[in-house]
Amino acid sequence: MAADELLVCPICRSFDQAARTVRVAPLERRPDDGAWACTNAPACGFVFPEVEGIPVILKPGTAFKASLRFLPEARPLALARLLALLGPEDPLAARARGVGSYTVAHLGDWSPDPEIALAARPNAYSTLAATLAERGAVSGRTIVLGAGPGRLAYELQPFCEEVLALDVALDMLLPGRRAMAGAAPAAIVCATDSLEWRAVPVAAPDPARADRIRFVCGDALDPPVRALVFDTVVAANVVDSIFDPSLLIGQVDAILRPGGRAVIVSPYVWKAETTPPGSWLRGGAQQALALLETYGRATTPYESAEWLPEMEWALRVDANHAVRYRLQGFVARKSA
Ligand SMILES: C[S@@+](CC[C@H](N)C(=O)[O-])C[C@H]1O[C@@H](n2cnc3c(N)ncnc32)[C@H](O)[C@@H]1O
Ligand SMILES: [Zn+2]
Repeated sequence: MAADELLVCPICRSFDQAARTVRVAPLERRPDDGAWACTNAPACGFVFPEVEGIPVILKPGTAFKASLRFLPEARPLALARLLALLGPEDPLAARARGVGSYTVAHLGDWSPDPEIALAARPNAYSTLAATLAERGAVSGRTIVLGAGPGRLAYELQPFCEEVLALDVALDMLLPGRRAMAGAAPAAIVCATDSLEWRAVPVAAPDPARADRIRFVCGDALDPPVRALVFDTVVAANVVDSIFDPSLLIGQVDAILRPGGRAVIVSPYVWKAETTPPGSWLRGGAQQALALLETYGRATTPYESAEWLPEMEWALRVDANHAVRYRLQGFVARKSA
């Protein structure tokens, strides 16, 4: 067995934000059962599962439970029926509605259902990928942090050698991987109004691309990857949807190699239920860039930053209701 080139054990990984140092123990995939084992054995040797081709590399405990909120094993049609049975008050229904709006935004334009397809056109992720590609901002080995159902990773894939889509929520990653890998039945489960659910089929136009995207379930605040290895690190719509935005930006810097590019795009719309108000970056994109530059000065500084044109991103809530966000983004280049 050979140690994986990218994935490391989150139990053994230690990141010192102040000293800007990262220590890691690589993982290796066990050929017999496809699970991922920490090479730091016997001291650790923890074995992480793989679900439908997605390694789940989370520290045991709360994060792992959080990622299983949505019964990821359930197939979309069965899930739609289950949700109908549980009723709209069930917490699972609220989670399903949230995941549904992301999957429609990511994959809806691949659906033959006109109502769903219309809700996702134009697709914000292909626009963002084109904007980044035009500027030569993506290349080589790329990671998308907080990737959701992975559409941005899919759109960036032709411009990179390798793309890793990382998200803490397995229920976000699964529909994306199923749709891209052509796994039947790949579908989005969505609420047509607050009381009814249905499964909507989706399929990626280029399923071969799925083989070149690595979906990984992991925590972006403690990403289970080696330090200084990515040519491009992308955080899109995640800085304001995470518990600790400053730590996320610290991790972006920690995994970006010298000469690589950090791409941070967000509407900077803060919610107390995901980010404690004391951790909000109230200065928005300017503050995010200033933080990244501060971290860079401790090791390898950033030599330039380019602002991206303002973009729009919409999340469908139901057939009659969507939320529109204005995105601000920049690309910052670390000196070689
Ligand atoms: C607002 S959504 C955006 C998803 C996607 N990037 C997009 O633009 O549609 C935020 C995503 O960040 C993920 N997320 C939140 N906290 C995370 C963490 N600690 N590590 C990894 N992903 C996280 C959520 O599961 C969710 O998929
Ligand atoms: Zn370990």
